[in-house]
Amino acid sequence: MTVRRLAILGSCIILAAAIAIRYISREAKSYCRLIPGDPTWPSKSHWDELNQTVGGNLIATTPIATPCHNSSSNALFDQEACEALRDAWFSPTTHLRHPSSPMTYQFTNNSCNPFTSPGSPCSLGYLPAYTINATTSAHLKAAVQVVKHHNIRLVTRNTGHDYLGKSTGAHALASFELIDRYDDHDNTYDGPAIKMGAGVEGLEASTFAHAHGLMVVASNGPNVDLAGGFTQGGGIGILSSRFGLAADQVLAREVVTAAGELVTTSPTSNADLFWALRGGGGGTYGIVVSMTVKAYPDTFISLAYLTVLADANASNTEDAIYAAVGTFLQSLPALVDAGVWLVWVAHPGGFLVTPAMASDLHPAELDALFQPTLDALDSLGLRYEYSSAEYPDFLAGYHASTTASWPVAKANIGGRLIPRELVQDADSLAALVTAIRLIGSQTVMSGAAFNVAGARDDVAVNPYFHKTLFSAVMSTPINYTDWAATKAAQDKLTYELLPAPAGTHTGR
Ligand SMILES: *[C@@H]1O[C@H](CO)[C@@H](O)[C@H](O)[C@H]1NC(C)=O
Ligand SMILES: *[C@@H]1O[C@H](CO)[C@@H](O)[C@H](O)[C@H]1NC(C)=O
Ligand SMILES: *[C@@H]1O[C@H](CO)[C@@H](O)[C@H](O)[C@H]1NC(C)=O
Ligand SMILES: *[C@@H]1O[C@H](CO)[C@@H](O)[C@H](O)[C@H]1NC(C)=O
Ligand SMILES: *[C@@H]1O[C@H](CO)[C@@H](O)[C@H](O)[C@H]1NC(C)=O
Ligand SMILES: *[C@@H]1O[C@H](CO)[C@@H](O)[C@H](O)[C@H]1NC(C)=O
Repeated sequence: MTVRRLAILGSCIILAAAIAIRYISREAKSYCRLIPGDPTWPSKSHWDELNQTVGGNLIATTPIATPCHNSSSNALFDQEACEALRDAWFSPTTHLRHPSSPMTYQFTNNSCNPFTSPGSPCSLGYLPAYTINATTSAHLKAAVQVVKHHNIRLVTRNTGHDYLGKSTGAHALASFELIDRYDDHDNTYDGPAIKMGAGVEGLEASTFAHAHGLMVVASNGPNVDLAGGFTQGGGIGILSSRFGLAADQVLAREVVTAAGELVTTSPTSNADLFWALRGGGGGTYGIVVSMTVKAYPDTFISLAYLTVLADANASNTEDAIYAAVGTFLQSLPALVDAGVWLVWVAHPGGFLVTPAMASDLHPAELDALFQPTLDALDSLGLRYEYSSAEYPDFLAGYHASTTASWPVAKANIGGRLIPRELVQDADSLAALVTAIRLIGSQTVMSGAAFNVAGARDDVAVNPYFHKTLFSAVMSTPINYTDWAATKAAQDKLTYELLPAPAGTHTGR
């Protein structure tokens, strides 16, 4: 058992707090949690006391980009450290190892920017005042009790992958326990299970499962902590088209409640909290210390890649590309129903499936499901590369599929769930393709396709997942030297690209 990093954030200012404060009048302010500067904000001696209770693990926030700024006699100003930070800025590990840096830069209020001149200001902005690097459930209990006593806002952060900024705070309780045969006392599940600490990352969980001949529904990204917002918000992963959402896999959780108590939640113990924590959203109902999930016998997995690039010399390639996208979308239900998970990207210059993955399905079966798309590409005269391959187990396929980590803090990200019915009649499909084309002409338009139609309905996930064919994901760039442009790009995403573009009927 390795306890690595578990943490919570004892904190005050995050986006939610800032929004609340903006809209609540001064008189109503006593209902709000305290923020630094409020007259009744706890004194240094209170923080010192909390620090003792949590074994000296209380960290006063220093924004990650502090070394880049020389204002206010900043002793941490360090040009070399700043250069190193700039070089590593877009790597998730840079942020997930830091106690307070969010991966979603836009939620910092641009208050300490690593790419601006040394003389530009660096302040906390929306970052929490303090972080607790909690390594035991006792730390979590102490933290909750203290913030409750002083009416301070508490934010739970695991790796900080939340694209809505809800975790704007480093978390790690990384431990594993294999349960050969899980006994849930009411016989709803009879099979192997894995109990994991809240700080276990997706790839770590898959690696542990693999060592025991098993696999679990894990995140596509390797360093997303599974027990956090991922599973608590539903959780779509590579194996979801076979086994359902990550939330469906959970058999029990240990949680520190808002009252500061450590409880077990399961279908028979604190069932309401157990229900809420399976899909109701991260950072809301309590601080998860561990979770126990179903595990499945490991088996072979197939991967397919498709690359279609527009021919710059042909006059109608863009039309041809989107015609092929239409055929591909039409073929998606058959693909996901066969247990395939796909990530695709469409833009006027090309169309990629990168990749399609299916456990327990051979390449020949995957090829057959891609045949309608390949036929369309042939008849449209588009050149493409298609390949498929089989790997002996989930982990081998995963390693073959994923770049070690995706860049973070580069884009404002948004998305919506697209229902299957939109590809099932010609008019809706045409409108959907028009919308995808319109968005693709302005920014990267991608989708993650899956089928969780048969997933459980006794969990708190958004039921819309059940009719979803793909999660549409789009983004606009963050410009570190032009914050107004970043804000404009955010608004474009929110008000232009995410609503169904005019003239199309993409449903809701
Ligand atoms: C908490 O205590 C540790 C150990 O004494 C110390 O290094 C750290 O600076 C303290 N944290 C704060 C916020 O004072
Ligand atoms: C949190 O605690 C762990 C275990 O003691 C330690 O390895 C890690 O460096 C700490 N993290 C921070 C940000 O202080
Ligand atoms: C801080 O940086 C500014 C450039 O942005 C420079 O003019 C100033 O001399 C620097 N001050 C110190 C103390 O290094
Ligand atoms: C956020 O940024 C704006 C614009 O720079 C500033 O007016 C505001 O005070 C900042 N808010 C916080 C909480 O730092
Ligand atoms: C486009 O035409 C030029 C000139 O004929 C040729 O060199 C180039 O390879 C063509 N590009 C493609 C993508 O076919
Ligand atoms: C960011 O904005 C600056 C100033 O407007 C501009 O010069 C620069 O090209 C922009 N960067 C990107 C990547 O768009």
